[in-house]
Amino acid sequence: MRFRPSILEVHEYRPPLHGRKSSGEVLLDFNERTDPLPPAVLRELADWFLEGATQVYPEYPGLLEALAETTGMPQDHLFFGVGSDQLIDCVFRAVVDPGDAALIPTPSFAMYAHAAALAQADVRTFDMLADDLAQAADEALAARPTRIAVFGQPNNPTGGLIPTLALLDLVRDNPDTWFLVDEAYAEFSGESLLSRVARQYPANLIVARTFSKAYGLAALRVGYVVASPPMVTQLAKIRGPYDLSTVASHAVQVVLRHRDDVLAYVREVMDVHKPRVELALRVLGIPFLPSRANFLLIPDGVALLADRLKAHGIRGRVMGQPELKGCLRISIGGAEATRRLLDALEG
Ligand SMILES: Cc1ncc(COP(=O)(O)O)c(C=O)c1O
Repeated sequence: MRFRPSILEVHEYRPPLHGRKSSGEVLLDFNERTDPLPPAVLRELADWFLEGATQVYPEYPGLLEALAETTGMPQDHLFFGVGSDQLIDCVFRAVVDPGDAALIPTPSFAMYAHAAALAQADVRTFDMLADDLAQAADEALAARPTRIAVFGQPNNPTGGLIPTLALLDLVRDNPDTWFLVDEAYAEFSGESLLSRVARQYPANLIVARTFSKAYGLAALRVGYVVASPPMVTQLAKIRGPYDLSTVASHAVQVVLRHRDDVLAYVREVMDVHKPRVELALRVLGIPFLPSRANFLLIPDGVALLADRLKAHGIRGRVMGQPELKGCLRISIGGAEATRRLLDALEG
């Protein structure tokens, strides 16, 4: 039996999911929301199942309206998918021919390199540990014509970001390059390109957002992109017509209706819990990278912390990339998760 050689060459993207929920541990390994959604939201989701509409194929009447209202963007600039993972893949498939240059930050979220490999891109990287990230990206873009450049704003796992205006300059200075700006953690950083470009949306910009992090819907798998209408038209050919389940679509509308309540969690994490964890690490003399997101990267974390966290039933993420050998990433969660983490750090 024959497979396409380009597929045989690609490794499966397999995050270390095994046994997470059944472990009973505090899960600080995937940057998820640790607190459940507000009871009113959960009740509305449960009611949806009781209505018994599972036998009907999805249609998405309210979803685009809700996204348009949230982003302030017209519906022809919006496209949703099964998590931002699917959208990253769709964007690469829409614009990359085999051998086209793709610029990817490193270290960064594994899905970028995976989508690039599936599209048979010629991958170049720029260094997310550089002192001046905008300059590192600028130099990499100037070095050669680039079909697509990806930016994590903030970047996972380093937590840094390129200042919004500097990134916008790069977008405008390189009109022949697609810019895929992944804002999975933008609720936490408080920075988004969207607020800068609403009226004059650059044709080469694609901003990806997710409901998996601050909005607490990782299990239901919903993301969306804001892009110029020609890109939306092409993406619609790649994603299936019913890929997003009705319950996922409904859940997005519910969390957006309860947005203030749902996102109160973000301020708690960033203003209360994260500073407490950072202080505890400083007291222990354990260095970490400054982060604009709900996670911290700890360069010597495996040696300094992994055993201690494990003994206290806490799961962090041992980073797999060769350039991050010995690094541990921990998510910052809500009050209970932080209490457990501080017990481990201070105990
Ligand atoms: C930077 C970044 N982008 C995208 C995702 C995936 O989001 P989704 O659950 O919407 O596929 C993650 C998940 O960890 C992430 O860290």
